[in-house]
Amino acid sequence: MSIATARVGSNIAFIKYWGVADETLNIPLSNSISMTLADAHTTTTVAWDDTGVLERDVFVLDGATQSTARSQRLTRHLDILRDLAGVEWRAWVTSENNFPTASGIASSASGFAALTVAGCAALGLELDATRLSAIARRSSGSASRSLFGGFVEWAQGDSDETSVAFPLHGPEHWDLWDVVAVVSGEEKKLSSAGGHLLAKTSPLLDGRIAQVDGWLAEVRAAIAERDLHRLGPVIELDALAMHSVMMTSTPSLLYWQPGTLEILQAVRRWREEDGLAVYFTIDAGPNVHLICEAETALEVETRLGSLRSVERIITSRPGPGPQLLDEHLI
Ligand code: DP6
Repeated sequence: MSIATARVGSNIAFIKYWGVADETLNIPLSNSISMTLADAHTTTTVAWDDTGVLERDVFVLDGATQSTARSQRLTRHLDILRDLAGVEWRAWVTSENNFPTASGIASSASGFAALTVAGCAALGLELDATRLSAIARRSSGSASRSLFGGFVEWAQGDSDETSVAFPLHGPEHWDLWDVVAVVSGEEKKLSSAGGHLLAKTSPLLDGRIAQVDGWLAEVRAAIAERDLHRLGPVIELDALAMHSVMMTSTPSLLYWQPGTLEILQAVRRWREEDGLAVYFTIDAGPNVHLICEAETALEVETRLGSLRSVERIITSRPGPGPQLLDEHLI
């Protein structure tokens, strides 16, 4: 049995990935930029059955054995690794998130990155982070960015080799926090994978894509200068632009709940009336990520705690890239 365990942080995008140019390879319509999270991670052990006894992949997620239907995306990803190594072995995979699913933090980003790192290590494939990023991208675009710590950009590229993430700055560069306000812990009805395909039906898609190169340049510069007041307006604009594309797709994707809007308006009020340095971004769900510097995080958490629609708060700092662990979950 060949076994390895990896721990990988999830990430929050400042400039989003939404819509695909190539749906088989998950080549996006633009670059995207994110911050890898220290306090929201997935730990995954992959054990390959080199005896050939195991008939199908077995996937245990947060203590629960997953049905064949729920293991499909995992099995397809393991097929990519099997092809690379030229083996037909099945695998036991055990995975644990240290954050709740449907919390507004992407478990597929950290999940597919951890599966890639552990699965390849257990196969003895010695691949660098860039190559691993390309492999992770095949099953979850945002996972490509979790192969690096700190502040990360995913280059759109035009092939499997060139559509990969690369690091901008390490996690120590800027103590920027992501305070997630969870307004609904319900699982979303449509996966992002389905949403990427709908993006092309929105009349607003071309407008966002035409602007995004300028926004990327602004975000790169703001991160380099550690300037939250330069970063914040652009990340809010891009999150709203992405949600405008989602809302105007056919069928329309409306991820927001009343609580989402309550938080967006509160953030703007705190900033305008009290000078609180905090900005928002939103992924494919109703929960709101509040981005602020370390010194403001406690105040942001306290204020969020007084809002009626906030069910729970999850806070994370910038985190490292993937780590291989000696202790296995199996
Ligand atoms: C809105 O295709 O990476 O988070 O279906 O969960 O794997 P999964 O998501 P993915 O799309 C992520 C979309 C996004 C924006 C982003 O992270 O860039």
